[in-house]
Order: sequence, then C-alpha cells, then structure tokens
Amino acid sequence: MAVVTDSQIKAIPGWFFRSDWSIFRFALEESSRQVGKGDLLELGAYLGKSAVLIGGDVGQGETFTVLDLFGAQADTPANAAENEDQYPSLTRSRFEENYLKVHDALPSVIQAPSSQVLDHVSSGSHRFVHVDASHLYEHVVGDVRASRELSAPQGIVAFDDYRTFHAVGVSAAVWEATRDGLNPVAVTEMKMYATWGDPDPWVDALARWLPWSGLAFEEERIAENAVFRVWRKPGAVIRGLMELQKRRMS
Ligand SMILES: C[S@@+](CC[C@H](N)C(=O)[O-])C[C@H]1O[C@@H](n2cnc3c(N)ncnc32)[C@H](O)[C@@H]1O
Repeated sequence: MAVVTDSQIKAIPGWFFRSDWSIFRFALEESSRQVGKGDLLELGAYLGKSAVLIGGDVGQGETFTVLDLFGAQADTPANAAENEDQYPSLTRSRFEENYLKVHDALPSVIQAPSSQVLDHVSSGSHRFVHVDASHLYEHVVGDVRASRELSAPQGIVAFDDYRTFHAVGVSAAVWEATRDGLNPVAVTEMKMYATWGDPDPWVDALARWLPWSGLAFEEERIAENAVFRVWRKPGAVIRGLMELQKRRMS
C-alpha cells in the first residue's frame, strides 16, 4: 500500500474530481474490511488520474488490473468515433509514464476492449471495480454485467457519468441494472457507488464515515433503500450531521 497525495492526482489530466477522491479512499479501505483480500479493476483509465489512486491500495496478494483501448481498434464504429473525438492523443505509454511517476511498478495493464475483460481477470474476486470506459449504452450494459460477474460478495463498484446529459446511455444501463440486483449506496455529481451484495453494511459504513469526511451529504430513499447524496460544499456538513441525527432517532 502507498499513500497517494492529492497533488499527485491533480498533476494528471482527466475526469476525476475531489469528492470522488475522498469516496474512493473510503471505499477502497472499507472494501478491504468487508471483503478481505480482493482484486481491483478499472475499465477505462485514460491518463491514469483515477488509476494512480486505486493503485495505492493494492495489498499483498491482490491484483490491480487496468483495462483500456489506449487508442487501439474499438469493437464498433460508434465507440471508435467516441474515442477519436474524446481521447485523440491517448497512448498506452502516456498512461504508463504517469503511473510510474506515482508508483514503483505498473498494474496489470490490458490493452483491449472492455467486452473482453472476462477473459483477462478472475470472476468473483474483485473488492473494487471502477467502470469508466465507453459511455455508449451497448458497451456500458456489458461493463455493468461484467462488474456483477467479477465482484466479490460485498465488493463495491463505481460507475462514472451515471447521470450526465452527454452520456444518457450510461444512465440507462446503470439504472436498469438496479432491477437485476445492483444496489446503489451513494451518488456524487459524477459517480454512483453500488454493490451487487447486501447494501446495508455499506450504508452503515457510509453513515459512520460521512460526518467526518468533510463532505456534505443527505440521505435519500429509493424505494425502501437508503442512498447517500454526497457533494463538496463548505458549510453544508452541518446539514448532513442533522440528517444523521434524524436517522439515528427514527
Ligand atoms: C473517461 S476516460 C477514463 C477516465 C479516467 N478513469 C480518469 O479518471 O481520468 C474513458 C477511457 O475509456 C477508454 N475506452 C473507451 N471505450 C473503451 C472500450 N470499449 N473498452 C476499453 N476502454 C475503452 C478510452 O480509451 C478512455 O481512456
């Protein structure tokens, strides 16, 4: 395990924001508590901004796999167009250079479409999965299914852009999975955190951690299930504490 600082994350370009840095740190640590030893996986790494943080939490006997096309041929013309438009100058070596500025060794790097992830990593062993590859519905549906297959019981999965205007396919794919046993436990402006296992231990752990996290939060209910909305807003922590008090008294 290695401490990865905010300035190391900040130095790498990408789409990974501060409230999620905090929740990743929490979720990585908590997943070790709930799962024990387990593997880590990122689908879609770009230049390594989120990967370097995940890479700091890899323990003895655990494997961290990073899978990305890194500019290689996509499965579909739509995915190829998406990548040309969004990541035209991405190369695997640019990712690797960034990663090695923070860590002594690379993770297991797979240059392939995420549709092939099940061929490369072990099923049922992952305590933490970050789904952030293609943002097109057909691809995300596959990535969501893979996250189910790959997660250890009580593993946590972070889904990027689950509610963004430019990525409605991600929203559709992620929310429809809630009918198949995916349990959201927290959302930020950019990411949903969910488990294919029992949500209660995650909700309880969040309820203990959030008041001390420095983040603002509110507890929502989706059907009968608690889901925390979490955001960065100095001063709003008090509101979250009041919510927690209400929760304890009910
Ligand atoms: C939004 S970026 C990842 C951002 C990164 N996680 C961060 O925090 O900065 C999406 C990445 O997914 C990769 N990608 C796009 N389609 C993919 C696919 N079908 N399979 C694997 N990787 C894909 C792109 O090459 C790009 O690096």
